[in-house]
Amino acid sequence: MASDSIHPSPVSYELRGKVLLVTIDNPPVNALGVDVRRGLAAAIEHADATDAVEAVLLVGAGRNFIAGADIREFGKPPQPPALPDVCNRIEACRKPVIAAIHGAALGGGLEVALGAHYRLAVPGAKLGLPEVQLGLLPGAGGTQRTPRLIGAEAALSLILSGRHASAQEALKLGLVDRVGASDDVLAEGLAYAQELLAAHAPVRRTRDAQGLADRESAQAAIAAARTDTAKKSRGLFSPMKIVDCVEAALNAASNNAFDDGLRFERKQFLECLDSPQRAGLVHAFFAEREVQKAPETKSATPRAINTIGVIGGGTMGAGIAVAALDAGLPVTMIERDDASLARGRAHVEKVYDGLIAKGRMTADAKAQVLARYTGSTSYDALAQTDLVIEAVFEEMSVKQAVFAELDRVCKPGAVLATNTSYLDIDAIAASVSRPQDVVGLHFFSPANIMKLLEVVVPKQVTADVVATAFELAKKMRKVPVRAGVCDGFIGNRLLAVYRAAADHVMEDGASPYQIDKAVRDFGFPMGPYQVIDLAGGDIGWASRKRRAATRDPNARYVQIADRLCERSWFGQKTGRGFYLYPEGARTGTPDPEVVAIIAAERERAGIKPRSFTDEEIIRRYMAAMINEGANVVHEKIALRPLDVDVTLLYGYGFPRYRGGPMKYADMVGLANVLADIREFAKEDPLFWRPSPLIVELVERGANFASLDQSA
Ligand code: 3HC
Ligand code: NAI
Repeated sequence: MASDSIHPSPVSYELRGKVLLVTIDNPPVNALGVDVRRGLAAAIEHADATDAVEAVLLVGAGRNFIAGADIREFGKPPQPPALPDVCNRIEACRKPVIAAIHGAALGGGLEVALGAHYRLAVPGAKLGLPEVQLGLLPGAGGTQRTPRLIGAEAALSLILSGRHASAQEALKLGLVDRVGASDDVLAEGLAYAQELLAAHAPVRRTRDAQGLADRESAQAAIAAARTDTAKKSRGLFSPMKIVDCVEAALNAASNNAFDDGLRFERKQFLECLDSPQRAGLVHAFFAEREVQKAPETKSATPRAINTIGVIGGGTMGAGIAVAALDAGLPVTMIERDDASLARGRAHVEKVYDGLIAKGRMTADAKAQVLARYTGSTSYDALAQTDLVIEAVFEEMSVKQAVFAELDRVCKPGAVLATNTSYLDIDAIAASVSRPQDVVGLHFFSPANIMKLLEVVVPKQVTADVVATAFELAKKMRKVPVRAGVCDGFIGNRLLAVYRAAADHVMEDGASPYQIDKAVRDFGFPMGPYQVIDLAGGDIGWASRKRRAATRDPNARYVQIADRLCERSWFGQKTGRGFYLYPEGARTGTPDPEVVAIIAAERERAGIKPRSFTDEEIIRRYMAAMINEGANVVHEKIALRPLDVDVTLLYGYGFPRYRGGPMKYADMVGLANVLADIREFAKEDPLFWRPSPLIVELVERGANFASLDQSA
């Protein structure tokens, strides 16, 4: 057909002997968009209708079998055939259908394979049902067929975690029948199909599998999953529904009513699809990928990075060194003197010793990693290093002295990076003879664990240096966000503002304990005062003192934290801060003395305390965060609203299921956020100045998402 030659179907089929080879070719990952669903259904029709076809082999073109439903179709009007019908149609085929899996068989991709009668995976394949990570549940029979095939316990573990199983694990679980000897999926698949034909292997439908025959053990697994999910999946919508679906599978199995189970699953799936959590999580999925595509990554080629230097072996330097070692890179650490160098090495070793203690690393593996690590007190050791990251004290003069040394010893073309949290990187760059090589790499503590990496782009840096920073992030498995130079870049700049909003609420009448609880209930793992106690109150105190001279005298300044610091109550490390930590406890208890100090501060400031509901607290906290997020986009510090979202999600514990502060603003309605800001401004117009970007978007009836799309 003519139209076919213009829009060829992404699913093609051809006869190979007696086997109909069906190839799904829908780049980049063979997602199950409407054309793929149609193509699969048509291929099965053809197989049933054609005498020469004795078996069907499903394979994916490119690097994957099928990565799942097409996530971009969510929220749009559904187009037939629905995926569950396609899976049913495959299963109903009168000739054996074999799925040959390489790369990803995820979500709907695995569900298609479960609709087939036999499954083979090649060694590099990864199989899973990751829908839970998108606020969903497997909605094309996955919650029904998986337990029938591999039992309730294994199915629940796979579906609730969303993890990827290797080919070998899938074989052990019974998810696949065979692991091919080579990675040549076509050859392995065809050979397996021939073998099955030669053996007259029958059509074998997963709906008839007996994995739920032991009803008692399935019931026990479901009850255990229910208890565990109630504990672990705080605030999440889909996990409990997954347990319900597996329970429905069990009931359907007992009553011989597979299709009832499917119907139940469909209903739950559609409820998840309509949920704000699905919208938040899918936004996070795409935003995480979009941030990697900064303009410099398209316009420039990264420089080669084969060696890393780290200056400073404190909290951050050691963490960065571990991140680089874990990425397989050799690391040279520079410290001030031998004692500090030894301390730096000890910090690095402590991380690996922790892994050994937990049984996650062997002593041999540690020795192998540390063979790539050297330390020195002489900058000359960096003469051949490709990229150096400075993590010394947060003092401009100290940083500039370090950069002067780097300028002296490093080879031409070496990338010179700073991990500064707040300092002006343009000023650091201007102090050396090669400002074009200077970039900010702002890691988060602990640097070997936290995913976020702000790539801070000063004025004079060249594009290939920025591209190199993104390449390094990839090697280190970090999520890079491009940021411009300003006080605090994206994340810390927002943090300063929403913490100030929390301080205002505290001084006006809420306790830090209520604020922390409200913030936790919103979905953050910790409240702001717990975070201060964890990080050490002295850090913020030092920067407040540094800024005292430049602070606007008319700006509201809450002194409660200063009162605690003056008593050396720096948080967990000193046994008390906003909370008490008796005998080294990790969880704090409320402190009546802190409550008294707060009361005294209110009195000093002439404030008559009033009460706040948790909702009022969150409205202020979020309005402050969103407003400053809009400011950083407006000033082009962040490329798009989604870059702000990713920063908060990966560096500050923002609940992923809410998508980030900017996505959250779109969901509650930007006009509502603006109304809140204007309301709060009646009390404190200096603090609550609506961002010009929000005003403009509300005026033209637009939202933040419109900027994500147009950027
Ligand atoms: N739908 C639409 N687009 C998808 C997609 C999907 N399911 N999965 C990946 N993509 C896109 C990505 O957005 C990206 O697009 P871009 O190039 O424009 O940025 C491109 O494919 C490549 O993706 P990655 O950069 O992630 O490539 P990797 O090679 O690193 O990873 C992968 C490949 C492991 C398949 C990874 O993309 C992934 O985990 N995808 C999501 C899998 C998933 O969640 N599947 C379940 C979907 S829900 C479902 O199936 C419901 C069903 O039960 C009814
Ligand atoms: P730290 O005090 O733990 O470590 C600093 C280290 O630098 C010390 O070991 C010190 O001996 C060494 N040092 C100082 N001057 C030196 C010099 N001239 N040459 C070589 N080594 C020198 O400090 P931390 O927390 O690791 O912070 C380092 C940098 O990272 C700062 O710029 C900080 O703002 C930034 N940062 C800190 C984060 C945190 O959570 N601690 C998070 C992100 C960035």
